[in-house]
Amino acid sequence: MGRASSLVALLSVANVILGQDVAAAARWIGETRKENGVTYQCKCYSDNACWPIANAWSKLNTTVGGALRLALPPGAPCYRSVSGVPAAGSTYDAAECANVQANFNSEQWLTDHPVAELWPLYTNNTCLPTSNPDATCTRGYYGDYVILATKEAHIKAGVDFARNYNLRLIIRNTGHDFMGRSTGYGSLIINTHSFKKTQFITKYSGPGDWTGSAAVVGAGVQGRELYRKAFAQSPKVVIVGGECPTVGWAGGYVQGGGHGPLSGIYGMGADNVLQFKAITADGNYVTANAKENPDLFWALKGGGPSTFAVVTEVTVKTFPEVPTAATILNINSTHTSDQAVIDEGFRIFHSLSNHYVDNGMFVYFELSAFNGLHIQPFVGPRMNAAKIQEVLKPLFDGLDAANIPYSTVTKEFPTFFEMYIDMFEDEAPNQNSIVGGRIFTKKDIAENADAIADALTFASQPQPGVFGISVGHIVNPGNGVPTADNAIHPKWREASSFVITNVIVTGQETWDQKKEFENIQTNVVGARLRQAGPNGAAYVNEGDLYEPNWQEAYWGSNYAKLLQIRQKWDPNGVFYTQTTPGTENWSILDYGKKLCKKA
Ligand SMILES: Cc1cc2nc3c(=O)[nH]c(=O)nc-3n(C[C@H](O)[C@H](O)[C@H](O)COP(=O)(O)OP(=O)(O)OC[C@H]3O[C@@H](n4cnc5c(N)ncnc54)[C@H](O)[C@@H]3O)c2cc1C
Ligand SMILES: *[C@@H]1O[C@H](CO)[C@@H](O)[C@H](O)[C@H]1NC(C)=O
Ligand SMILES: *[C@@H]1O[C@H](CO)[C@@H](O)[C@H](O)[C@H]1NC(C)=O
Ligand SMILES: *[C@@H]1O[C@H](CO)[C@@H](O)[C@H](O)[C@H]1NC(C)=O
Ligand SMILES: *[C@@H]1O[C@H](CO)[C@@H](O)[C@H](O)[C@H]1NC(C)=O
Repeated sequence: MGRASSLVALLSVANVILGQDVAAAARWIGETRKENGVTYQCKCYSDNACWPIANAWSKLNTTVGGALRLALPPGAPCYRSVSGVPAAGSTYDAAECANVQANFNSEQWLTDHPVAELWPLYTNNTCLPTSNPDATCTRGYYGDYVILATKEAHIKAGVDFARNYNLRLIIRNTGHDFMGRSTGYGSLIINTHSFKKTQFITKYSGPGDWTGSAAVVGAGVQGRELYRKAFAQSPKVVIVGGECPTVGWAGGYVQGGGHGPLSGIYGMGADNVLQFKAITADGNYVTANAKENPDLFWALKGGGPSTFAVVTEVTVKTFPEVPTAATILNINSTHTSDQAVIDEGFRIFHSLSNHYVDNGMFVYFELSAFNGLHIQPFVGPRMNAAKIQEVLKPLFDGLDAANIPYSTVTKEFPTFFEMYIDMFEDEAPNQNSIVGGRIFTKKDIAENADAIADALTFASQPQPGVFGISVGHIVNPGNGVPTADNAIHPKWREASSFVITNVIVTGQETWDQKKEFENIQTNVVGARLRQAGPNGAAYVNEGDLYEPNWQEAYWGSNYAKLLQIRQKWDPNGVFYTQTTPGTENWSILDYGKKLCKKA
């Protein structure tokens, strides 16, 4: 492991002589590794001679105004020290440890932490809070350093440093990514969470043909925070955002596309973007809109997170508030102990997906063996209680005709925001699961609804050695925005139901066991989803890290153009996130540690 080539050793002597001031990419060559007969050249890590010397890090710290920190797991204050990180010194702090323990399951606290991830599987579940300070805290897959950026210049300094020294760079906003893409072993992390600018505009006059209202949203603004600010405007406005209160809006959400409860009337988050401000792999400040850098503008709208640039702010259309009704429906162990009855209820419900989306609705549901079918809520924008009940009548009639027991509650609200606050639930973080999923199109639902319901029922129940939960979003952005000139997979326009499948794990499995569960997600659960929904696609923000033919699955006919744009704006791979355009020759080797490129 970690054998530095003699070339690197020689160069490192030169580096010391130069004091590492003149960092040219070519000098900072990481180790050569061979895996499965393929030779790779890696980024620089702390066990390589090309790793920046202490003086270089302290210069970076000066450039970023003292905002550089050692990246330490959130549980570190509960341990005497962090193994292998002598610079962290004595980390134990009883009061801070108590604080960590009290907040470790708070989504907001985790998103506010410099480097925490909400789904700890991809941190290796390392250094968890403990009451035994003598236990060992290791760094796992957390990074080495983090810049707590508060200014654009801090982000630029981080990008320049990572590029010049050939380091793995991670952009971390809220740490929400289900697939661990806001953490990375041995990396330099740029934390964008402090970019909280929000500014509302009543009449947009920039490039493009939109002259309605808009908002400028900083990279760190979160979903509910943004909804709340939009609601406080006069007149009140709405923005297409996600269902989750703490997901970042302008980071991964928009760059992956972004679906949400208003997508059935206003399209996807990225459909509504008017302009990005960003910092490129070259460290340049750029504006991307219909006139300036239109290729980058197109790609940032759904072409993949952490792929083309670091986004610092986004200007987006806002829309007038809408009266909204919502309905909750449960079929669970309080209604029946017969799983077959719940399954049949689910089949009846899900088979009507096209009907819901043709009425502009959004539906959020969870299906699992332990909680049954939990639909919270059906969202009816521009509907009152009577109207949503009328739209849902085929569902109620279908359940009644089949003698399926259920409970349901309907409410109406003067605005979307009041509905959102009342009817949506917060998620619990710190769950360990291996994620996959599928977008089922209207054609798939029309032709194959029973097979799709069967596949989802299969994915949501204990299979031998596996527990599953499915999290569904019945939504058709094409109903609101029938065509869009952006990178979002064109199949989203024909979507009817997008479901995330989860293979639940403990997080304590060995590497080989994790690989086995990944294989179950991809090739057992995922294979069934693809078979049941042959006309569908997949969603890069909530998808399988090992999705077969991911280029086609995540971007379809847009992929070729995205690859060209990636090669233009980041030819050397300053940015990296698994399954994003142009990453074909890169792999994370050495048990999930080193990012390396085929030599
Ligand atoms: C509980 C939950 C609910 C969700 N609900 C929805 C939903 O309703 N609709 C939906 O579409 N998605 C939803 N998602 C998925 C969500 O869109 C993605 O997880 C998204 O990537 C989160 O972005 P983030 O910036 O908050 O997270 P992070 O984990 O911090 O970042 C995610 C990715 O974006 C990159 N990134 C972050 N900021 C920037 C930036 N400024 N510039 C460039 N790259 C950046 C990161 O490097 C990383 O690759 C949900 C996720 C969770 C966990
Ligand atoms: C960066 O500088 C600040 C302020 O001087 C200091 O508190 C911090 O520890 C430094 N970071 C590192 C990684 O040394
Ligand atoms: C991840 O955890 C496993 C099991 O505890 C351990 O063997 C492995 O070394 C860890 N990997 C890292 C990068 O810490
Ligand atoms: C089961 O349904 C009942 C009745 O609607 C509801 O109160 C309860 O919260 C549901 N349980 C779950 C786990 O959703
Ligand atoms: C991967 O490497 C091969 C061989 O050098 C090259 O032809 C190809 O264009 C590369 N692919 C990408 C996506 O960079």
